[in-house]
This record gives sequence, C-alpha cells and structure tokens, in this order.
Amino acid sequence: MTIWKNPGWYNAEQRRMLLDEHVDRTGKSRYGIVEMPTEIKRDAVKDHFNRVAKKYDFMNTLLSFGLHHVWKRKAVRMLDLKPGRRVLDVCGGTGDISVLSLGWVGPAGRVVLYDINRAMMKMGKNKRHKRLSQDPIFCVQGDGESISFQDETFDAVIVSFGIRNFTHLVRGFTEMYRVLKPGGKIVCLEFSRPMNPMFRTLYDFYSFNIMPFIGRIFTGSSRAYACLPETIRMFPLADELTKILEEIGFVAVSHRGLTNGIAVAHFAEKSSASPRESAKNQAHKINAHSGHH
Ligand SMILES: C[S@@+](CC[C@H](N)C(=O)[O-])C[C@H]1O[C@@H](n2cnc3c(N)ncnc32)[C@H](O)[C@@H]1O
Repeated sequence: MTIWKNPGWYNAEQRRMLLDEHVDRTGKSRYGIVEMPTEIKRDAVKDHFNRVAKKYDFMNTLLSFGLHHVWKRKAVRMLDLKPGRRVLDVCGGTGDISVLSLGWVGPAGRVVLYDINRAMMKMGKNKRHKRLSQDPIFCVQGDGESISFQDETFDAVIVSFGIRNFTHLVRGFTEMYRVLKPGGKIVCLEFSRPMNPMFRTLYDFYSFNIMPFIGRIFTGSSRAYACLPETIRMFPLADELTKILEEIGFVAVSHRGLTNGIAVAHFAEKSSASPRESAKNQAHKINAHSGHH
C-alpha cells in the first residue's frame, strides 16, 4: 500500500517546463504536484516552513539517518574557505551551513544566514548559541530571488536544499552570481536522482511510504513530507544544472554525487576577469560559434 502517490521522476521536457521561462509565460508554478499562480507560491513555501520549523532539524536527521550532516560538511569543504572570507548562506534555514562556514572563516570572517522564513532562523538560534559563545552569524530575512545585498559583496555563496523551492531558479542563481565578487565561489547542495535503478526503487518506496508516515507521526502532517520527495523528482538533473550555471556565466562548473546521487553538490566560480574582459570573452565565444574570428 502506498501512503502517498509517487508522481514519478519527471522527464527532461517536464523539468524544463518548471524553469523561469515557462513559469513567466504561464504565470503558474508548482510546489510539489500542486500547481498554483506564481504570486502565491512564495507564501506557500513560507507556510510550509512555518509548519515544519520546530521539528526541522530533528526530522532532517531522522529521515536522512544523519547523512545530511556529512553532505553539508563536504559541500562547505568544496568552497575552500580561508580565514577572513565573507560567506552568504542562501536559504540558510536553521543555520547548519552557516555554523560550518564560520568554523572556516573564523572571527575575522563574516557569515550571513539569508532566509525568507523567520521561524526557521529563530529555531536555529539555540543551536548556534550552543556551538559558539555568542551568535556571530548575521541573520537577514529576505527572498533569494532578489538578494538584498550589493553586487560583488561575498567571496563565497552556498545554497543547501533551498533552491528547489524557488519559483524562479535561474533568477535565484543569477542573483547569487551578482553578489559574488569576481573569483568568488558557489556551491549548490541539492537532492537528485539516485544513479542505481535498484537503489532508486528502494528510495522511491522509502520516499512515498516511510517518509510521509514518519512525518505524520512526528509533525501531524504527512503532506509536508510528501511534498519534499515530489519536488526532488521535478528538479533539474546534475548535467542540466551545470548547463544552467554555465549559461548564467559561472565558470569551472563541476559536480559531485553523494550517496549514489541522492544528493549532488555543484561547484562553480565567477570569473576573476574584469567585467569588460568577460564581455570580450563572451563576444569572442559568440563569434567563434558563428564562424567569425
Ligand atoms: C529545506 S530548508 C534548507 C535549510 C538549510 N539550508 C539546510 O540545508 O538545512 C529550505 C530553506 O529555504 C528557505 N527558502 C525557501 N524559499 C526561499 C526564498 N525564495 N528565499 C530565501 N529562502 C527561501 C526556507 O525558508 C527554508 O528555510
């Protein structure tokens, strides 16, 4: 018996239909299988995290068997942070990534936890205090689709398990590109499709039977934990995400699968060339494509 219906893994065309261009053309977006006008999607996401905030950390650890801590450590390590650097943790939630980043950048550095949901940031406060005598992480409430910081403010940007909820994914990454300094680095940690088909079958069973069931027991809502696996099945695959990042202008894009590809960490850089030089390179690329040299 299935507790929640598995919508199946979307195909390339269905995944493409969830990207900015189509969303803007139709004025419709999806949160899991539920389609809604774009204007209300942000509030739907906010409501969802308001509902789960209290149990978020506990459920994360329970449902991932603690693996999310390992993935997050690996993702932050990929940024190769140095003392004194400025880091933006987009969709930072309760702050796991911010705390890990602070460990690398030290007291001379700066970490900004940026999230649309106040309840999530508030819930993480005790955890951040417990680890550190005071909370040196700056919490800023705001939308990742229009980041409230000036161009070229940060040495590194990281988004962990958050971009999947955006109405405009490309706009979100473009904003992250904008606030990065030239030469700055970005890591996106997100769920993806397990590589091994047998493992995928087991994972599907777990996602739509066990997860919503555990969700219902601990939070009283099976819907909240059915929405999570639905959004995962609609998200661009690793190579598609690589292409999106490259089209925005990121360079040196690479990715690394974690736990058979349940999660994938993308790494990319903003070119350190001056904007004028970048524009020249871009023009050169276009000319090379069209045969003019
Ligand atoms: C699944 S949680 C991830 C939290 C944390 N990064 C982690 O890895 O544990 C997703 C977070 O993204 C936030 N979020 C969703 N849409 C957002 C948006 N448009 N702008 C900023 N934050 C957003 C939610 O409020 C939530 O805290």
